[in-house]
Parts: sequence; C-alpha cells; structure tokens
Amino acid sequence: MNHGPLIFLGVFFALTLSWFGLVFEPQLQLGNAQPTTNLVNAAQLYPQMRPGQARQGLDVYRSLGCAACHSQQIGQTGRTYDVTLTDPGTNRAEVIAALLKVRPRATATEAEKLVAGPMPQAILKDVAHVAATNAMAKLEPTGAKAEVKIIPTGPDIARGWGKRRSVAEDFLFDQPVMLGSQRIGPDLADVGSRLPVANWHLLHLYNPQIVVSKSVMPPYRFLFEKRKIGREPSPDALKLAGNFATEPGCEIVPTDEARQLVAYLLSLRADTVIFETPMTVATANVSTNTPAATNAPAAQTTNSVVK
Ligand code: HEC
Repeated sequence: MNHGPLIFLGVFFALTLSWFGLVFEPQLQLGNAQPTTNLVNAAQLYPQMRPGQARQGLDVYRSLGCAACHSQQIGQTGRTYDVTLTDPGTNRAEVIAALLKVRPRATATEAEKLVAGPMPQAILKDVAHVAATNAMAKLEPTGAKAEVKIIPTGPDIARGWGKRRSVAEDFLFDQPVMLGSQRIGPDLADVGSRLPVANWHLLHLYNPQIVVSKSVMPPYRFLFEKRKIGREPSPDALKLAGNFATEPGCEIVPTDEARQLVAYLLSLRADTVIFETPMTVATANVSTNTPAATNAPAAQTTNSVVK
C-alpha cells in the first residue's frame, strides 16, 4: 500500500500546529509589547556605565582597601509625606474650611494666612500616606491645587548619606561591587552628589585633615608625587597652605591613580528616581511656618562646605 500522502499530511499538520504554537501565538501575545522602564523621568539614562577613568578608579578603590572602612549601601526604613499648597484657587472660604479639617489644631487666622501667603505653602509635614491622600481628597474639590511630596526616611538618610535607599541597578556595571560591611567612615554610595568637587577629594586623600580637621582617616600620600617645581608650577599641583605646605621649591602633584580614584568617587551617586524607590526631588523653596534649619539656597542639595 502507498501511505505517502497520509504521512505527508500527518507531518504537515504536526509542523503547522507547532508553528502556530511556537511562533504565531507568542507573536500575538508579545509582538506589540513596548519596552518598559523603571525610571520616573524617562528622559534620564540609567543605569549607566561609569566613565572609563572611574572604572579604573574602582580597581584603585579595591586595591587600597577603602571598603574596609566605607560601605556603599544606603538603608531606608520607610517614607513620610509632605503636603504643600501650590495654588489656593479662587474659592478662599472653602479652601480655608478644608484646611481646618485637614489640620484640626490650626486656627482660622492661621488657615487664612496660609491661603494668603506666597505659594507654595507647607500644609502637612512628615505624615503617613493615608493622611496625605486624605488631605488631597479634601483640598482638591475646593479648586485648590496641592502636591504630595514623598520623602524617604531612615538613619542613613537622616545622616545625609543619601536621598533614597541603594538599589541593585546603582551597581549594575561594577565588577566587583564594593558594598563594604564596616562603617568606620561615612557611607559612600552617594558621595558624588554630596561632595561633587574633585579638588576636595584630592586634598582629602593627600591628607584628610586639610579638609576635615579632626579626621581619623589615614592619608594616602603615595597617590601623589612630590616634585621640584620646574620653570612654572604645575597647574595640577595641590594648593597647600599653612601647616600642610610642603618644603619650598617643591609641589605635590596627583598621580593617575589619584585621579582615577577621584573620578570613581565622583561617579558614586544614588539619586536617580526610580519606581522602586519613589521620592520627590526638591526643586523649589517651600516656605514653612517653622524657621528653616538652613539658609543655603534651595537648589543646593547639601550644606557641606566644598572646595
Ligand atoms: C581606617 C578607616 C578608613 C579607610 C581605610 C578609609 N577611610 Fe575614608 N573615611 C574614614 C573616616 C573615619 C572618615 C570621616 C572623616 C573624614 O571625612 O575624613 C572618612 C571619610 C571619607 C570621605 C568623605 C566622606 C564624607 O561624606 O564626608 C571620603 C570621600 C573617603 N573617606 C574616601 C575614602 C577612600 C577613597 C578610601 C580608600 C583610598 C578611604 N576613604 C579609606 C575612614 C577610612
């Protein structure tokens, strides 16, 4: 008997079915999928590889054992929320009534002052998520505009070591990741945004006490070269004065390793806003009823003295 056509049909159907199952169906399910991102501001590039010099600096950081005293992992225990009024709208009386419900302890005159004052005005500070959403629900129907700010909290953040917790993507391109476990010195996960001036780091590495008078961090003088000043002083030479000055006629010039290490330190940042670690980045100066703890310009993220 000739079973040729039957075998052909059998094989044909088996292959067609598997084509539908393995190619056609997945295409229907995923063919139109758009790339997703965990970035809040999609225009940002993150995670990004460190620049070449900073990648070399990672090796210097490792070889010098900086991780023995410095961790790179900011912890976060929770979040609090601030509510600020950005625009009181036209219906003042209702806004004031809503404000009194949101802040039961406030008096009518205080509420009036809030509404009349320059915007934005802080309404609630350091409250739970429920309280913030409740306040929004009461304020919005009155035509006023308010904003909720998300503020990460925790001991590390209170120390100023970072604005949000560290996440794995912060270290995606590092090999190895220098998480560290001891904290003899401050956490360095966000040191690039806390101390963004290269010269500060060079001076600090040469002798920490030049910039932090009571520092107990060991100096790394071997990262610098002592040279006789030639016809002209080198533009890269450290500017040392007073007790820290070198002998006359000599200058201290950073080596390539020092520069690489500093490039690495400046590349350490944990400030990209991603959905896993939501936070509101401070942009405008919010006038509060309590006097501000600092008179540094609002755009500045730190008060530490750099330079
Ligand atoms: C023996 C422990 C120890 C070692 C090793 C050490 N540090 Fe430090 N580091 C400290 C201490 C303590 C401080 C805080 C005092 C200061 O700012 O100098 C500090 C501060 C710093 C700061 C300033 C951080 C800030 O927020 O003010 C940087 C940057 C830094 N170290 C980088 C390094 C680098 C890079 C290395 C490796 C070359 C290193 N440290 C090795 C103990 C150490």
